[in-house]
Amino acid sequence: MKVLGIETSCDETAAAVVEDGRRLLSNVVASSMDLQAQYGGVVPEIAARSHIEAILPVIHQALSDADCTWDDIDAIAVTHGAGLGGSLLVGVMTARSLAIAHGKPLYGVNHVMGHVYANFLTSSALPGYAMPAQPPQFPMLAIIVSGGHSQLALFEDHFNYQLLGRTQDDAIGEAFDKVAKILGLPYPGGPQVAAAAAKGNPLTFTLPKAKMGKYDFSFSGLKTAVLRLAQAQIGETHEFASTKLAARLSEAQKHDIAASFQRVAIETIVDKARLAYDEFAPVSVVVAGGVAANAELRRQLVAALPLSIEFPDLKLCTDNGAMIATLGCFHVKTGQPADDPYALGIAPNLSM
Ligand code: KG4
Ligand code: ZN
Repeated sequence: MKVLGIETSCDETAAAVVEDGRRLLSNVVASSMDLQAQYGGVVPEIAARSHIEAILPVIHQALSDADCTWDDIDAIAVTHGAGLGGSLLVGVMTARSLAIAHGKPLYGVNHVMGHVYANFLTSSALPGYAMPAQPPQFPMLAIIVSGGHSQLALFEDHFNYQLLGRTQDDAIGEAFDKVAKILGLPYPGGPQVAAAAAKGNPLTFTLPKAKMGKYDFSFSGLKTAVLRLAQAQIGETHEFASTKLAARLSEAQKHDIAASFQRVAIETIVDKARLAYDEFAPVSVVVAGGVAANAELRRQLVAALPLSIEFPDLKLCTDNGAMIATLGCFHVKTGQPADDPYALGIAPNLSM
């Protein structure tokens, strides 16, 4: 069974073909990131316009890389939420049209759940993908760490899960992006902060860890603490503009601030993951979302959890069509009802 996955929730236009929820046949991603970087973040109108230009070539490339014609495709899965309204509309309308034109069942799927399902891929027809040997098993603890979401979910089975906790304010990826701005690092901030942190000493500064409910997180206080720390480092008060800080900080100060922030942000997640592991004894633990690419997160998790964790390939951590196609395969496999291609809507605020 082959499913075409389409993803356009933010600034990546992506499509992929996955077979049986296990095997990656193609994975094409076109990003408007270079365009967005000029503005220091995602401009929704630019993202939507870029999707319109890229979507059909990206889908055709995904089919051709997978050596497929439309006859080979059993279903289409598309992200219908959460995400930017204009961006989601382009993907959903394209998927609806293609489903009608080619007579394929259509599944609107949840983007955040898609990140979790990237972990079910175990083989690739494409070169350069490191895949785990086995898919995760249930009960499965999912540590979801993306630009828009930070949550812990315990899956008893496919589509049967409980949310243990979530962020009460910023997502962890958002905190990385905001700290990047304070340090004058370009968008997207996460990988840049990680690179700066690799050159610094994570023990230089003590930053606060928020006290929250058992499995809940908060990152907004940490972000403010980084701002105050940066102001104090150059001998300025709370009034000093955050946009002018980077020019006054030395490279060494930036590296140490990035490293100290990253250590605490990652510890916040890992501490709660360990608590959940002890309480629920999951057979598998998976990490999902853009921050799953973070090397310090991987290092701390390996040290904290007494089971072996298979991390997804870096190319499958940030937004991609493969995760959507994989999730689509499991919608089909578990007999979830298909959506009406004449009616499927977008759900910008969809949560798990
Ligand atoms: O999952 P994703 O691609 O998009 C959302 O669904 O939100 O996550 C993007 C987020 C951004 O905030 C980006 O800065 C962060 O993931 N990110 C990282 C790294 N790579 C991407 N954060 C920390 N370390 C990284 N290596
Ligand atoms: Zn995402």
